[in-house]
Amino acid sequence: MSTTSERSPMDWEQRFRDDTTPWERKGLHPAFMNWREAGAFEGLTTVIVPGCGRSAELRGFAALGKSAIGADLSATALAWQEAALETAGLSAELIEADILLWRPDAPLDAVYEQTFLCAIPPRLREEYEQAVHDWLKPGGKLFALFMQKEELGGPPYGCSIPAMRELFPEIRWDWPDSAPAAYPHPSLNGKPELAMILTRR
Ligand SMILES: C[S@@+](CC[C@H](N)C(=O)[O-])C[C@H]1O[C@@H](n2cnc3c(N)ncnc32)[C@H](O)[C@@H]1O
Repeated sequence: MSTTSERSPMDWEQRFRDDTTPWERKGLHPAFMNWREAGAFEGLTTVIVPGCGRSAELRGFAALGKSAIGADLSATALAWQEAALETAGLSAELIEADILLWRPDAPLDAVYEQTFLCAIPPRLREEYEQAVHDWLKPGGKLFALFMQKEELGGPPYGCSIPAMRELFPEIRWDWPDSAPAAYPHPSLNGKPELAMILTRR
């Protein structure tokens, strides 16, 4: 079944069924591994990976003993995650939904954002910021990988730092002082993702 809508003009479900998923990395994102090695995930219990697709980080968080939630519109991607979790002897909560409309029963410690914000139509960005703010407890962390791209259009849509500073304003988010690490994407023409941890005020 084809599943496009005004909120999701890309037929993600069909992309997973066709296995046409150029945004996927082969394993854990190097930023995830660097954050993990640096202890950035320590002390976090609950984490959501919105638009998790078939990415490995959901299992990465589950393997760290986190209470991990993977959310996606695509039933095929979530079925894949379920099988991969089972094979690895891990568990996570899987939610099939337009995740911008979802709210948790209790606020979460962290959000891991990887090629999700750049995938949604830019007109939904403010809704996304509000959702992430609502999901997190004060002091909660947004692990963000902001996709850098000069060309207009998408997905992926560019997430320039000036645009992100406007979207995640200082009145609601603490920004790190240090310059972000850049991670070229292995298949999206090497477009860099800038890794930053924002803290919800
Ligand atoms: C570019 S893919 C990235 C997948 C994964 N994060 C990764 O790095 O491989 C974008 C993902 O977001 C999902 N998605 C798009 N809009 C969504 C929405 N409103 N709610 C939940 N998932 C959504 C798609 O189904 C797709 O899996």
